[in-house]
Amino acid sequence: MNLALLPGDGIGPEVIQQAVKVVKAVGKKFNHQITFKEAIVGAAAIDQTGNPYPDATHEICLQSDAVLFGAIGDPKYDNDPKAKVRPEQGLLEMRRKLGLFCNVRPTFTFPSLVHKSPLRQERIEGTDLVFLRELTGGIYFGEPRGRNEQGTKAFDTNIYTVEEIERLARMGFEFAQKRRKLLTCVDKANVMATSRLWRETVQRLAPEYPDVTVEYEFVDAVAMRLIQWPKAYDVLITENLFGDILTDEASVISGSMGLMPSASLGLNTKLFEPIHGSYPQAAGKDIANPLATVLSAAMMFEYAFGLMDEATAISDAVNFSLEAGVVTEDIAEGGKAYKTSEVGDWLVEKILG
Ligand code: IPM
Ligand code: MN
Repeated sequence: MNLALLPGDGIGPEVIQQAVKVVKAVGKKFNHQITFKEAIVGAAAIDQTGNPYPDATHEICLQSDAVLFGAIGDPKYDNDPKAKVRPEQGLLEMRRKLGLFCNVRPTFTFPSLVHKSPLRQERIEGTDLVFLRELTGGIYFGEPRGRNEQGTKAFDTNIYTVEEIERLARMGFEFAQKRRKLLTCVDKANVMATSRLWRETVQRLAPEYPDVTVEYEFVDAVAMRLIQWPKAYDVLITENLFGDILTDEASVISGSMGLMPSASLGLNTKLFEPIHGSYPQAAGKDIANPLATVLSAAMMFEYAFGLMDEATAISDAVNFSLEAGVVTEDIAEGGKAYKTSEVGDWLVEKILG
């Protein structure tokens, strides 16, 4: 397995480092030859090359069997709306060039953490849903975008083609078939033309998947029901922007954003990344939660290589660490807070032990 490592910005490098340790341990335990190639992306890449997603990085991604990605973003760009190049452009370029149109973001609860959620335990216990967020279209990429000449008017364009909707929707149906066979199409068809095309396209495909029950729900209603009754959902498909917002909301159900992994699937090499961002305030302090990245590595074994035992070895170790209270400060809550690297070391021992 040839893996590309893109640590990126903020806490990216330190959480990626833990994932690498864990992947190496799994390689040892299950006898896999694993090689790593590191590449720059984000603010780090702007500093070195002026480009947040350099061609050399893209080449490494294309030639790898999977990409493990940390995070992108640096506060020095956030408060400078006039900055010409922004780290996030690198992330969007990477998604576009690798054709990663389907972002898989699961939400599940950890039995040892349910009492720590801000939501009532009985509402969230047993939640097991997955968002498929469209990742290379919609308002993130639509043209035209910008300002009028006087700078007094700004505009973004939300565009979707049938083809873009259909390929994402088909993945949704296929995911649902392997799970509890419930698919929810999240849109704003009462207002938006793009949403009506989503709904029409999903309705057209539905008869091809007779074993899957399809529900259509407006995004505002989903925002509410998701935290009121998350167990009502199985697989949700939605456009880029709605998916961005709802998956942050959904991460609260699990107790911490530091726990939620993701996989991005599409036309080329698959990519795996935590859904939390670069968390610059914690960068370099060895306090960030590495579990979302470690669980992203578990998703890599499952989705890039079809290796379920390897994936389970990782998720089991993570569950053990949570039960044993070997956790970083974001979930330690008064108990002992372990360092990022200590959690990584503990997981390695658990996997090899
Ligand atoms: C995410 C992030 C990105 C997005 C940002 C950093 C551009 O929030 O992966 O969810 O909006 O897609
Ligand atoms: Mn986001």
